[in-house]
Amino acid sequence: MTAEINFVVMGLGHIGKRHAEMVLRQNGAHLVAFIDCLSPDSLNLGDLASGIPHFYSFEEFLASGLQAQVLNVCTPNGLHAKHALAALHAGLHVVIEKPMALNDTDCEILMTKASEKNLHIFTVMQNRYSPPAVWIKEVIDSKIMGDLFLMQLDCYWNRDERYYTPNAWHGKKDLDGGTLFTQFSHFIDMMIWLFGDIKNIDAVFKNFNHAGLTEFEDSGFIRFEFEKGGMGLVNFSTAVFEQNLSSSMTILSENGSVKIGGQYMNKVEHCRIKNYQMPTLAETAAGNNYGAYTGSAQNHHLVIENVVRVLNGGENLGSTAAEGCKVVATINKMYDAGK
Ligand SMILES: NC(=O)c1ccc[n+]([C@@H]2O[C@H](COP(=O)([O-])OP(=O)(O)OC[C@H]3O[C@@H](n4cnc5c(N)ncnc54)[C@H](O)[C@@H]3O)[C@@H](O)[C@H]2O)c1
Repeated sequence: MTAEINFVVMGLGHIGKRHAEMVLRQNGAHLVAFIDCLSPDSLNLGDLASGIPHFYSFEEFLASGLQAQVLNVCTPNGLHAKHALAALHAGLHVVIEKPMALNDTDCEILMTKASEKNLHIFTVMQNRYSPPAVWIKEVIDSKIMGDLFLMQLDCYWNRDERYYTPNAWHGKKDLDGGTLFTQFSHFIDMMIWLFGDIKNIDAVFKNFNHAGLTEFEDSGFIRFEFEKGGMGLVNFSTAVFEQNLSSSMTILSENGSVKIGGQYMNKVEHCRIKNYQMPTLAETAAGNNYGAYTGSAQNHHLVIENVVRVLNGGENLGSTAAEGCKVVATINKMYDAGK
């Protein structure tokens, strides 16, 4: 029998509301409370508002005496480490929205605390659950494509003044961290998940049309080698006019070539592999809709389901803290290479 898992969601913005909805829908999950520094009235909670206690800080939640096993950290990127550490310290498992933190030291502190307390850190990399991602992972792990020659990620999205509003945390170096952290960390995760660590990185970054909107680049070219062999390129921009253009991963290897594309890597656009017939894949869930722009796939229900199953001893973590740290370390190496 599945034991019910009590969740608290911290940060009730775009994605925190989604976490709350998914917890409410999930069998074996119970939503105990919300935490947000803003008042419930200003959070546009809609149906979520009914009957769920709201607290202004984690400390206030703890003082209430309510019991929970998991804190979902959905606050701005630069606050993830502080909020997750407080929860681990108090004995709660944490689900941390991407990115796990903004620097390697914070990642290590979180890993050490979790291991000291024998708690889990779940990092949110929901794109891994999309059918093209599940499929390509099996293809790469089965080695039917042979040795990797080239992997290229192209991520061309629009983020403009509709997104970088004056009071938003987006665009601030300390709270956002940069485009690779906030917009494209899912794709960096996918690349590492499939092909492993990178080395010998060269990078160039530019801010074309976000001066005054962000404290960092909007575009970059990053060139590197994979530790296990093969070369890689990551080309990205949020300077695309008006709307997202596409995100794609192209893989050229000894025995074949694959291109996964669409707006957020949701379609297999090309597959030609020696002695291999591509299966028909299920449809990918639509991207998160934020009005003027679209984000990554709506697979958060699978993240919450994974938490419930892991804590009931029935499944491995969908993405681990070590993998979350790797994404943070890799992005920071890329930024360092462009300095
Ligand atoms: N997995 C994904 O596809 C995905 C998509 C969007 C956002 N995210 C991540 O989710 C996180 C939140 O993003 P968002 O778009 O929902 O942002 P948001 O600005 O819409 O929401 C953030 C919320 O955190 C609250 N908050 C800020 N500081 C706080 C504090 N000290 N204590 C309590 N609450 C506080 C804010 O009041 C706000 O309600 C970010 O880390 C972002 O990178 C992930």
